[in-house]
Amino acid sequence: MTPAPANGGSLRARITGVGRYLPARVLANSDLERMVETSDAWIVERSGIRERRIAADHESSGTMGARAAEEAVAAAGLAGADIDLVIAATCTADGMFPATATVIQNAIGAHRAGSFDVNSACTGFLTALSVGSQFIANDSAQRVLVVGTETLSRIVDWTDRSTCVLFGDGAGAVVLERTPDGEPGALDTPVLRSDGALGELLYAPGPASPRADDGNPLDGAAGTNGGRALASLSDPLQALASCIVMDGRNVFRHAVKAMTEAAQECLERAGVGIDEVALCVPHQANVRILSAFARNLGLSVERVYMNLERYGNTSAASIPIALTEACVEGRLAPGDRVLMVAFGAGLTWGATLVEWAGVPMPSALAPVPATLAAAEARV
Ligand code: ACO
Repeated sequence: MTPAPANGGSLRARITGVGRYLPARVLANSDLERMVETSDAWIVERSGIRERRIAADHESSGTMGARAAEEAVAAAGLAGADIDLVIAATCTADGMFPATATVIQNAIGAHRAGSFDVNSACTGFLTALSVGSQFIANDSAQRVLVVGTETLSRIVDWTDRSTCVLFGDGAGAVVLERTPDGEPGALDTPVLRSDGALGELLYAPGPASPRADDGNPLDGAAGTNGGRALASLSDPLQALASCIVMDGRNVFRHAVKAMTEAAQECLERAGVGIDEVALCVPHQANVRILSAFARNLGLSVERVYMNLERYGNTSAASIPIALTEACVEGRLAPGDRVLMVAFGAGLTWGATLVEWAGVPMPSALAPVPATLAAAEARV
């Protein structure tokens, strides 16, 4: 175990590697025009999204998360065996159990690591980052892998134009290690908040959701009620009943207010002015949400990183994907203060400030596709 700092000060975590994986299949707005009554113009004007990625049948949050994790671990100059803990943030886990983090742990050969999932929807990555940094702060782990990974295409109702145009699939990952004394990189205490009373504004039921009276196989005679309930799992209508349900207008209103307040509290706690923030890397939900948030905060839009045009809303994956791409594009320099802000179902929201440590870019890190050049990958 590495000795505690001589000054007896706190052990602070910093990001030492980043990575991301986006599935090859591109679903453009023009494709959606053929599926539901919508238009490219409406989607771009109301959300800023032009295309999103869709996982192939054989891909999942686990497999995509593992690809992003491999990239982040390599960027940190490590191997899977060096990782002490794997935390996966996802609301589209491969199954109810085992945890998607264990799929990633196994795939990258992190044979010494513990692993578990966290789910606070789109705020999941910031939640996982906070948990991971605390394992480092209390000296329970030296190297923590935090992955945000989502396969939202599997819980989108592709007949609902008010939601299906917004979401996409992908994964991002970071490696956390202790900040050596006197070097930049420390993560500040995050602000994390929630309000479960607003849960009905955005939700997706699951197989363990409360059932209607006739849906419990333990009620009534076996083979009657029970047979119906179990059969319902493969019923297409039942599958539809597991899809995302959203009151977009109200989510929008809460998102702008909550993200603004979380960012302000985070900066205030850290004693950092908005002018000292080099780049804000927010959850990529909607360009109008991000523009209103930036306006409220007094942050120029140029200092808000956005790539939702190419990937849509990838929930817990959006911040680590954006962070990786900001890094690849050379938008982050050592010592830069980076503000991360998220908002999602729950409702949940939060913000955290990071001093950028300067992550080495291994040649393996694929370049960011030129905007919409990814269309070449269309299948
Ligand atoms: N194409 C064309 N018309 C549409 C579409 C569509 N895809 N979707 C809705 N409309 C119509 C509506 O039916 C409505 O028509 P009406 O006036 O005849 O009733 C009209 O457009 C306006 O609908 P609104 O829902 O009021 O449109 P709004 O301007 O609010 O934009 C949107 C909708 C984009 C969903 C917006 O509310 C939004 O982004 N909300 C936040 C959603 C979000 O970010 N959710 C995720 C955050 S949390 C997380 O990431 C899990």
